[in-house]
Amino acid sequence: MSRLITLSLCVLATMALAEARVRHYKWDVKYEFKSPDCYEKLAITVNGKTPGPAILAQQGDTVVVEVTNNLGTENLAIHWHGIRQIGSPWSDGTGGVTQCPILPGDTFTYRFIVDRAGTYLYHAHYGMQRGAGLYGSIRVSLPDGMAEPFPYDYDKSIILSDWYHNSTYEQAVGLSSIPFGWVGEPQSLLIHGKGKFDCSKLAPPSSDPSACNATNPECSPYVLTVVPGKKYRLRISSTATLSALSFQIEGHNMTIVEADGHYVEPIVVQNLFIYSGETYSVLIKIDQEPSRNYWITTNIVGRNATATTPPGLAVLNYYPNHPKRVPPTNPPAGPMWNDVAPRLAQSSAIKARQGYIHTPPPKSDRVIVFLNTQNKIDGYYHWSLNNVSLSLPNTPYLIALKENLHHVFDQRPLPDQLPGFADYPIYRVANNTNATSSNAIYRLKFNTTVDIILQNANSMIVNNSETHPWHLHGHDFWVLGYGIGKFDPDNDPKKYNLANPIKKNTVAVHPYGWTALRFIADNPGVWLFHCHVESHFYMGMGAVFEEGVDKVGKLPSEIMGCGETKGFKTP
Ligand code: C2O
Ligand code: CU
Repeated sequence: MSRLITLSLCVLATMALAEARVRHYKWDVKYEFKSPDCYEKLAITVNGKTPGPAILAQQGDTVVVEVTNNLGTENLAIHWHGIRQIGSPWSDGTGGVTQCPILPGDTFTYRFIVDRAGTYLYHAHYGMQRGAGLYGSIRVSLPDGMAEPFPYDYDKSIILSDWYHNSTYEQAVGLSSIPFGWVGEPQSLLIHGKGKFDCSKLAPPSSDPSACNATNPECSPYVLTVVPGKKYRLRISSTATLSALSFQIEGHNMTIVEADGHYVEPIVVQNLFIYSGETYSVLIKIDQEPSRNYWITTNIVGRNATATTPPGLAVLNYYPNHPKRVPPTNPPAGPMWNDVAPRLAQSSAIKARQGYIHTPPPKSDRVIVFLNTQNKIDGYYHWSLNNVSLSLPNTPYLIALKENLHHVFDQRPLPDQLPGFADYPIYRVANNTNATSSNAIYRLKFNTTVDIILQNANSMIVNNSETHPWHLHGHDFWVLGYGIGKFDPDNDPKKYNLANPIKKNTVAVHPYGWTALRFIADNPGVWLFHCHVESHFYMGMGAVFEEGVDKVGKLPSEIMGCGETKGFKTP
């Protein structure tokens, strides 16, 4: 009898071993001259490429990425966006929060389990490095024997991004200077790392042909070759630093079926609105006139970039037409940049797919209302939540909390709501001069249910409210509702969608609007929650949540070595 049990346990163990694999990657991260939009500048590459290599794994696998920082004079950290890091909070890759940055010349090994199939991202998470080109996709497939609830013939990933010609250092220094230097609109939009800047726009003497070369093959448009009659799953994601985007394929409707790793009740759209940090899967049928190619376009929405940033263009190449054959039509125009209604409509239409609904707890234990404002603090421009602008400490929070280094950040609790929120005028430039910079955090009771209300407001420009894509590390949250105007704590919660809300890790708060989220604080660690606009986060638009840090296992010494943790690093 006992032999039988031992035997079957052995069989089980072997089966589990056969299923969960280790996916090992070795990455060399460095600066290289690149011309993704024909204009040559320094970009951060992974193994020579931007976008970097895709991570392909199966649900349950362990991903191991050995990262060597060959940037020479710059620190580095890489975040695995959408991977919850259950049991490995020190692999989240958030410089200042979960680890000390990787020093030039050092190698750091990220190790984590991809516990759920879906489409995710990775990108640099130190300073404003993401904008220099360090990003890529993570595709986690279902375990053997399981099928997606929608059939398709081919599976492709496309990353959208925006691109600046100045360096992320110039941007960062501008943002933290008096007078303030805003990053402005990007020069180009990139579709899977390729765009096209009009070199003739460069004024002499910078019209040096080696610096901008329209015939450089590096900036030939991205081509997606498709076979007529087939169905494609396109995994579209955005790592844009600033821009909210609309994505469109000429003559082809798209059916949204996945968002941030969760199945969506299918909806058909002509434009996909996508905010930085989001991932979607759409299905398309290759069913148009097959003798020609079609445009794939991306446009900026939410900001007026019509005079500054041309649309990003790629080609949907119907096989066997020549991939370089230019579509015979003009690229379709994008939607009106300032029309919020269709964006809000798409956000609100995204619901969990029938049969895959994971209902949220009916009530929350704590409600945090985050008023999003732009403020001046000591003459510098910042973004704040409830008049607090986040500044990261020198010693990462995870280490500080685990090793009881209480003096390295402000231990005072932060308010769950701005005092006076009820009277706060979100429709006009508010004179909220009492904002401060702080490294204080929110401590959440382990396993409790937390609601976050993101409340948008006017920026410091008259009649201007921006779109902010909010991303939560370490969790997925339910999206309970959206609204325009001031959140009404008595009546709006009655309208929450508790029946089939989508779970996501990134969600937009629309101009002058609010967005309500719910999550369970059940992942021991310290997690950043922030606006995914690179410049906004740099200007303090974020908060930090701690939960169950006492349950976190022994920290690897490799994450130490900065701030007060220098002595913790064993050589
Ligand atoms: Cu994709 Cu903290 O970011
Ligand atoms: Cu923002």
